[in-house]
Amino acid sequence: MSERLIYIMASSSLGILLLSNLIVEAWAASFTQDFDITWGADRANILNNGKLLTLSLDQSSGSGFHTKNQYLFGKIDMHIKLVSGNSAGTVTAYYLSSEGATHDEVDFEFLGNLSGQPYILHTNIFAQGQGNREQQFYLWFDPTANFHTYSVLWNPQLIVLYVDGTPIRAFRNLESKGIPFPKNQTMRVYGSIWDGEDWATQGGRIKTNWTAAPFVASFKSFKANACIWSSRKGASSCKPARSSSSKFGWLSQDLDSSTQDTIKSIQQNYMVYDYCKDTNRFPQGLPLECTLVNY
Ligand SMILES: *[C@@H]1O[C@H](CO)[C@@H](O)[C@H](O)[C@H]1NC(C)=O
Ligand SMILES: *[C@@H]1O[C@H](CO)[C@@H](O)[C@H](O)[C@H]1NC(C)=O
Ligand SMILES: *[C@@H]1O[C@H](CO)[C@@H](O)[C@H](O)[C@H]1NC(C)=O
Repeated sequence: MSERLIYIMASSSLGILLLSNLIVEAWAASFTQDFDITWGADRANILNNGKLLTLSLDQSSGSGFHTKNQYLFGKIDMHIKLVSGNSAGTVTAYYLSSEGATHDEVDFEFLGNLSGQPYILHTNIFAQGQGNREQQFYLWFDPTANFHTYSVLWNPQLIVLYVDGTPIRAFRNLESKGIPFPKNQTMRVYGSIWDGEDWATQGGRIKTNWTAAPFVASFKSFKANACIWSSRKGASSCKPARSSSSKFGWLSQDLDSSTQDTIKSIQQNYMVYDYCKDTNRFPQGLPLECTLVNY
């Protein structure tokens, strides 16, 4: 078992990536080893020998965690079970982000609702500090009944968000058209739960009902088929997760037509909001990427 893929990012010539030397390492994620609880103290708990992490929100605080590692590209999966019952006002977030004012970020945010009413999956993509790329979806299942898999594919050409393996949104590298793409900043994986009653549920009309607190969301089976940044080496090494059949396929994956067709059909059937259709919000014209791609 020793092939290693080293991804070297020459900081002097951004965008020039050298591949050398492949290593395949079996690697099983453990919340104890691979994550830090960053806020909320004992509202965040690692259980079952590092296999399960729960986050809770009460009236005084939410809670959160992030990976110890920073990644530069990856196929990253997390299994999440959301707050059940009356979750109105709560926001459970799972995202990739770099740091600083011109940061990159890829967001999954789950907006709670009254019992029996549907969650909204709110997504956004920031490149060099600029977001405003919200797309929202209903899910085709009850996300509070079981764990479901939420994934991000992030490579130099493409970002794709998946729900249980179904692609729901893509963001292409259109740097050649002058649109920034997340490519030169390493990101950590974050999870958190917080009170978003000002905006989350039915546009902020439904507030959090604290009699139902604490609100608990659960995370398990984190898998990062990813390139891990090492500041010592000034490079990132790409390690596939255990039991991955595709190894490094994700690194060169492009947007094929079946992925585009699936995204189109998900967007037709489940989309709640699309910034690319919000002409009132962008009176000077839709963002350029909206006019360049149609999926
Ligand atoms: C990434 O590239 C952009 C320009 O393409 C630059 O403004 C930014 O400072 C770069 N960030 C890093 C961390 O190198
Ligand atoms: C909550 O339920 C209402 C009524 O079904 C729906 O309009 C709304 O989109 C749902 N989700 C959120 C997050 O508000
Ligand atoms: C909050 O939940 C409790 C318990 O279900 C309920 O009795 C109460 O009416 C709710 N409060 C509001 C403002 O909806």
